Amino acid sequence: MRDIMKISVIGAGNVGASCADVLAHKEAASEVVLLDIREGIAEGKALDIWQSAPIDRFNTRTKGVTNDYEATADSKVVVITSGLPRKPGMSRDDLIVTNAKIVKSVTENVMKYSPEATLIIVSNPLDVMTYQAYLSSKLPRTKVMGMAGVLDTGRYRAFIANELKINPKDIQGILMGGHGDTMVPLPRYTTVSGIPVDQLLPKEKLDKIIERTKFGGGELVKLMGTSAWYAPGSAAARMAEAIARDQQRVLPCCVKLEGEYGLKDVFVGVPVVLGRHGVEQIIELDLTEEEHGLLQKSAAAVKEMMDVLDKM
Ligand code: NAI
Ligand code: 2OP
Repeated sequence: MRDIMKISVIGAGNVGASCADVLAHKEAASEVVLLDIREGIAEGKALDIWQSAPIDRFNTRTKGVTNDYEATADSKVVVITSGLPRKPGMSRDDLIVTNAKIVKSVTENVMKYSPEATLIIVSNPLDVMTYQAYLSSKLPRTKVMGMAGVLDTGRYRAFIANELKINPKDIQGILMGGHGDTMVPLPRYTTVSGIPVDQLLPKEKLDKIIERTKFGGGELVKLMGTSAWYAPGSAAARMAEAIARDQQRVLPCCVKLEGEYGLKDVFVGVPVVLGRHGVEQIIELDLTEEEHGLLQKSAAAVKEMMDVLDKM
């Protein structure tokens, strides 16, 4: 019998189902469990994904359940996507009260059955929901992280690839800070196969791309009436795979800082190394004074929302 390695995805809505589909297609685990509170939705979506296995040739079993946490037992990684998405006119922060309650109860249930799991939070407002999961799980900071930077850099790199008419595989970039309008772009660290991007793209064009990236989530909410799911699902799956397969990938993730970048007790996006132990390293980049200032500002905006959560 082969060893079972399980990844669970909580919330079988747009992002959760998309994440489970990517994980199954990548064969990132031997089993992917999808859980939702709405009767039948996770079962249906898991069955639908499984029926693509013979067509797309993968062998990850997908199982859907309604609120049955026992089925998630002994998960290596749990991705939490349960919660309301943004509607037009809403900011991510508008979701705090409802989603904090959902993330709290989901995290407590997950921990009952998978005390060794690493948690990846997707629910918005991202940085604050990661804090909520950290509080509710009582896990060390290395095992609770939020997904935002992988998505935001995905958007940023996709826009650069379009502008330069270059394969997106060859664009590397990093963004830091909170998931929101205060995210901190780092064009100095953006390259096209090692070539600094400013040698290929004029500053005005790059500035426009940075602005579009900052409001990239809102652009999609406006187009679709709800928030995005394909790239968010892929981004969460990328992180889950890095942990499940012990890949030591360098990815921007939302983590609790304890002195790094001069910041303490705040959850913000920074480059980390992801492997089987979760966050295995936090990489401290050399920042200019301006970049450092932007990061402090972004962290202050997150801290304000963390204080709202503390008072709830
Ligand atoms: P959705 O509405 O399609 O799916 C959410 C699912 O969560 C629903 O199926 C709902 O039944 C389920 N759910 C609600 N309460 C639950 C509970 N207590 N237990 C289990 N399941 C529960 O929403 P979508 O588009 O999938 O977005 C999910 C969350 O992810 C939202 O908060 C959204 O803002 C956030 N998001 C975050 C991104 C990021 O970059 N961090 C990107 C995209 C979305
Ligand atoms: C996004 O960036 C709304 O956080 C969600 O698409």
